[in-house]
Amino acid sequence: MNYENILSKTTNGITTITINRPKKLNALNKATIQELHDAFEAADNDEHTKVIIITGSGEKAFVAGADISEFADFSVEEGGKLAAQGQQLLFNFVENLSTPVIAAVNGFALGGGLELAMACHFRVASNNAKMGLPETSLGVIPGYGGTQRLPQLVGKGRAMEMVMTAGMIDADQALTYGLVNHVVEQDELIPLAEKIASKIMRNSSVAIAEAIKAINANYEDGVNGYDVEIEGFGNCFGTEDFVEGTTAFLEKRKAEFPGK
Ligand code: COA
Repeated sequence: MNYENILSKTTNGITTITINRPKKLNALNKATIQELHDAFEAADNDEHTKVIIITGSGEKAFVAGADISEFADFSVEEGGKLAAQGQQLLFNFVENLSTPVIAAVNGFALGGGLELAMACHFRVASNNAKMGLPETSLGVIPGYGGTQRLPQLVGKGRAMEMVMTAGMIDADQALTYGLVNHVVEQDELIPLAEKIASKIMRNSSVAIAEAIKAINANYEDGVNGYDVEIEGFGNCFGTEDFVEGTTAFLEKRKAEFPGK
């Protein structure tokens, strides 16, 4: 597929999606959000893709936020619609993909950029990364899930402070907060994400999909995560991956999962 605002390539089971508007610090305009949706959907449906890595092009930014120039003159209705459509098309969509998604945060991850990183299954960052939700400095609040996912990841008090001050935290503080799992030099960021991806790929993709569903269930209103876990656990017993995984263990060999 041809994209204008992003790049997508698949090598050795990893699809790397790169937001490619470096002159605008990879800000998320409407077209980019649509293209990201399409690229994530294509990768999730691609049997060769076992892990997705998302990053930003250039050395300065992952994503510097939603494109402010697009919504500066919006009405109340248009503002609400912007948030609802974005959440459905990209942020909730990514969170609920059955293929693991790693955000490789390579610079500024602000507003919608941090919200996108937080919608991914986990995050790694380069040591020049700066993260924040600066929306209140623009007279608005985070609208792509930031008020929900930030407290889930860093705790309510830290989230309140970050949103109220509209300030940025650096990579080390993000690591301390648990917002990112690892911090490395910029040139080691993609290799690190790929190294983690290759560890993930050794395991059953069907089991991983069930695990994502069960873990996400913990954060869904009105859903009992333990019940989702029980159902997912049971489902695994009907898969070829389970037969292969347990047989390989008993035969003292490495499992070769068919992913079914
Ligand atoms: N929306 C639209 N354009 C953006 C953008 C955004 N969120 N973030 C950066 N850009 C554009 C700038 O307007 C500038 O474009 P121009 O060269 O046509 O003027 C270009 O990207 C480079 O940004 P610039 O501000 O010159 O870089 P900087 O290094 O001086 O500052 C930031 C970097 C990230 C601190 C600054 O760009 C910024 O504060 N961006 C907005 C962050 C934000 O509030 N995000 C939340 C949006 S809800």
